[in-house]
Amino acid sequence: MIFSATRPVLFALDGERAHNLTIDALAAWGMLGTPFGGARRDPRLATRIAGLDFANPLGLAAGVDKNGRAINGFFGLGFGSVEIGTLTPLPQDGNPKPRLFRLVEDKAVVNRMGFNNGGIDAALPRAAKAKRRGVLGINVGANKDASDRIADYVLGVGKSAAVADYVTINISSPNTPGLRDLQHGAALAELLAAADAARRLPGRQPPLFLKVAPDLDRAAIDAIARAAIEHRIDALIVSNTTIERPFGLTSSNRDETGGLSGAPLAPLARTRLADFRAATGGALPLISAGGIATGAEAYRRILAGASLVQLYSALVYEGPGLARRLCRELSAILARDGFANVADAVGKG
Ligand code: FNR
Repeated sequence: MIFSATRPVLFALDGERAHNLTIDALAAWGMLGTPFGGARRDPRLATRIAGLDFANPLGLAAGVDKNGRAINGFFGLGFGSVEIGTLTPLPQDGNPKPRLFRLVEDKAVVNRMGFNNGGIDAALPRAAKAKRRGVLGINVGANKDASDRIADYVLGVGKSAAVADYVTINISSPNTPGLRDLQHGAALAELLAAADAARRLPGRQPPLFLKVAPDLDRAAIDAIARAAIEHRIDALIVSNTTIERPFGLTSSNRDETGGLSGAPLAPLARTRLADFRAATGGALPLISAGGIATGAEAYRRILAGASLVQLYSALVYEGPGLARRLCRELSAILARDGFANVADAVGKG
């Protein structure tokens, strides 16, 4: 209800300003002790992935709360997991504004934020202090001007491993020139080996997830799947935003440079999920992201092999009640199809 009233106001503002106001509001609510309750709990939705217990399979994707300012608030909305970041070793401003565009007619977003964030050292104390009503992931990246990008990941993984329930290495943003090159060949193997070593702290070794782009060909998908298994990555997040512009976009913002997300990303995200399922042979849990906005779509991804799902763009259009609604819908669909638990439906499509 609050969202229906504030939506016209938020949509009248520049996308990034509306986003920042939303984070401010959620941070303030979170400090009041999350009056909305916690992650949605429902035995049918509870699942265990990479040794972590998720109250439900719906996660907040990285990029929404880059600096970890509203962790309590997002758990309060009902997400089973919250992934903060992308965080880089040094604070950085990101690209010039405007850099976040709504494609309202297409229920999509284009962004070229460029890893704007306050730096990992500022965010980690916030993450450590947050009331953890679910699984907390920390997503790390490299500074734009880093002379050694792999060293940036090693630093980010090592620091995050002390605090996070899981750590994600994000090599799939299209908005840091050259970053996606880390998805290939010797650079990928070197990165994964170094990151795997960096997360092994004495007495604590949180799972390591790898987030990939949807813009990959068959050979690259096979190579990433092999490297991820070889270097003991615990799950793949498929996927980040796309640099493609699928046919049929109507919004005037469709030609803005950057990564596209939201409804038009769904077909590509489904295809890549199936590709990674085939390439990994089920050996690695998969987390599907890209255009998920309903329980039915989450269920479709789960049947196609996703153990968990994440979303970002649908929140812009559907508002803060989305997480609870999606979980309710998913639970009802699982019950209808005779699944006692969501894990039983993974890959049954
Ligand atoms: C993102 N995404 C993202 N991903 C990531 O790993 N690190 C980041 O910092 C960001 N930043 C970011 C900013 C904005 C404005 C958007 C819209 C997206 C990608 C996001 O986590 C997700 O993978 C994609 O947006 C696809 O999911 P949706 O948005 O279609 O549900």
